[in-house]
Formats: sequence, structure tokens, C-alpha cells
Amino acid sequence: MKLRLRIFRAVLIGISVLIIANPAISIAVADEDALSRGKYIYDAAGCGGCHSDERINGFPVGGRALKTPFGEFRVANITPSRQTGIGNWSAEDFHHALRNGIAPGGRQLFPVFPFPAFSQMTDQDISDLFAYLSSLDAVENQVPASLVQPPFGWRSLMVLWRFAFFKPGPYQPDPGHNAEWNRGNYLAHAVAHCEECHTPRNSMGALSHKQAFSGNIGGPDGQNAPNITSDETSGIGKWTIDEIETLLKTGQTPDFDAVASGMKSVVKGTAKLTDADRHAIAVYLKTVPAIFTPPPSPPKPAN
Ligand code: HEC
Ligand code: HEC
Repeated sequence: MKLRLRIFRAVLIGISVLIIANPAISIAVADEDALSRGKYIYDAAGCGGCHSDERINGFPVGGRALKTPFGEFRVANITPSRQTGIGNWSAEDFHHALRNGIAPGGRQLFPVFPFPAFSQMTDQDISDLFAYLSSLDAVENQVPASLVQPPFGWRSLMVLWRFAFFKPGPYQPDPGHNAEWNRGNYLAHAVAHCEECHTPRNSMGALSHKQAFSGNIGGPDGQNAPNITSDETSGIGKWTIDEIETLLKTGQTPDFDAVASGMKSVVKGTAKLTDADRHAIAVYLKTVPAIFTPPPSPPKPAN
């Protein structure tokens, strides 16, 4: 046991050294454009969906409990409060948290904060997000600690999780596709993190990318997100690009149903995107390979 702990520590230190040795990140000077670009990404990424509290004017003061099979995670205060938020963070600290999932002091963040997706963001988008968050009022809100089951409670074990499942970004455009498709892919993965709910997870809570977008009905996160691959029976292969765009704009499906649960808050963000960006997501989504998923079995009759 002791030896294993020592190996963990050695790996942890090794990784920190690698990351510290990375070339410096260029930081854009905050200007009005950066603030509005940052707000755009903030909405599209649904940061407020988890972090904001409507009782406090929607400020991202955190505090909400997210229940997962690994425990109950508490969402952090990301207002610029120096005591209880991220007011003491430098732009580099913020980049490190989004790109690598590591907070100041080497604290490993849990992937319930979807950093594996945000890691794919461009430096520019991360800088703009930081400029926007820094412009908000600092609101004091001491968030209680997460109640997490071992081994997930041991933050240092995240090092192994990351080795196995985490590939840091940023997103590399695919030269085999045009700019619109690449923009859609970027928005779907790095920003709006569609896979976080629509892709099944393995027993370690990591996304099974081979089954990308094939749905997570009855999955451990309780989201029941359907198959959105281009499969014609179990997915959305019959939807047109226009229909996908309408859903992302208004929350309405081609059957005139309104989406509910987690998707409702996603649409609050995608509704604020430009038409061109919604179109790009739809164009990309139509190219996701079809995967058939059998319909969930009906509940067994009780007797
Ligand atoms: C699905 C919910 C969810 C979304 C969406 C989300 N976060 Fe978080 N975030 C969390 C949770 C939970 C934590 C705490 C993680 C932990 O304790 O390891 C967290 C932690 C953080 C932290 C670390 C704060 C600290 O003091 O340790 C930062 C910074 C952050 N989030 C920024 C963002 C930004 C920026 C966005 C949008 C781009 C975002 N988050 C979107 C759930 C979310
Ligand atoms: C927070 C989890 C979550 C995220 C993130 C998410 N979805 Fe969903 N999505 C859902 C859930 C849950 C439903 C089912 C809603 C319902 O039953 O009304 C859904 C439904 C849908 C549907 C309708 C499918 C159908 O057959 O009716 C589409 C299309 C869709 N999502 C696309 C997306 C896209 C594109 C993204 C990224 C921009 C995304 N989703 C991000 C949870 C999520």
C-alpha cells in the first residue's frame, strides 16, 4: 500500500513538473469585446447551468449538490470573491483548471466539472471566459466540501484516472472537413459538451467515446439522454439539419414535444448562439456515425 502511495506521489509530482514546464500562456488584455465573447462561451457552455444560483441574481456562486454514483459533488463558487471564489486566481491558474483540471496548489478537480470537454477549448475562448468571470461582482458563498466515496474522494487518485481516460486539448481541426463542420465539432465537444450526457460511461465514470452520442438511457447519471447518432430508428437519423437547429433554438422536437430535464437547461444556452453556430452544430451532428441502441426494456410486472 505504502509503495503504491509513493508511486502515486511520484507520478503526481512528475505531472506537475511537466505542466509547469509548459510554455507560458499568452493572456489577452480584457476589453469589452473579450467580455462579450466570454459571456457567449459562458452561455454556450452552460457554466451557469451548474454554477449559478437564481436566488442571487444568477451569479455563479456554486453550492448546488450534483449526485453521482461516486458521491455528492458540490459545485464551486466561481465569482471573483477572494475568500470563497476564484478571486485570487491568475489567468494562468484559470487556464490550468480548464485545460488540465487542476486548481491552484495542484488540487485535482473531479470530472463532474466537465474539464475533459473544456480542455478542448482554444486559449482565446478560455481567456475570454476568464475576462468575463473577472468582471462579475464578487459574491461570498462558502461551498461545503463534496461528499465523495473512496476511491473517488482521494483527489490524488485522479492522477491515474487522468492517465487512463484524459486527453488534454486544445481541439485540433480535422483538415478532412470544412470550417463549418470543424466549428460544429468544436462547439459540440469543447463548449456545449453534448457527449457528457449523450454518451454512455464506463464503470470509472469516463465516457466511452467508441459509443459517442449513442445515448445514456438508465445511465448512472440519471440523465436518460437519448441516442442522437444518425441511426434512423434509435437515433435522430430522420431529423433534418433544420429540425436539429430548431431544437437547439427553441427546445422543440419535430413531433412538437418540448425537451425536458437536462436538455432544457442546455437549450437555454444554445438558444443564445448565433444561427451560424447552431447550424454548424447540426451539420456536424448529422455526420456522427449511426449506432443502433435497443429500446430500453419495459419495466417487469410486479408479482
Ligand atoms: C455539469 C456541471 C458543471 C458545469 C457545466 C461547469 N462546472 Fe465548473 N465545476 C463543477 C463542479 C462540480 C466543480 C467542483 C469540482 C471539484 O470539486 O473537483 C466545478 C469547479 C469549477 C472550477 C474550480 C473552482 C475551484 O475553486 O476549485 C472552475 C474554475 C470552474 N468549475 C469553472 C467552470 C466554467 C468556466 C464552466 C463553463 C465553461 C463550468 N465550470 C461549467 C460543475 C460544473
Ligand atoms: C445535461 C445533459 C445534456 C447535455 C449536456 C446535452 N443533452 Fe441533449 N438531451 C438530454 C436529455 C436528458 C434529453 C431528453 C430530453 C427529454 O426527454 O425531453 C436530450 C435530448 C436531446 C435531443 C432530442 C432527441 C430526441 O430523440 O428527442 C437532441 C437532438 C439533443 N438532446 C441534442 C443535444 C446536443 C446537440 C447537445 C449539445 C449542444 C446536447 N444535446 C447536450 C441531455 C443533455
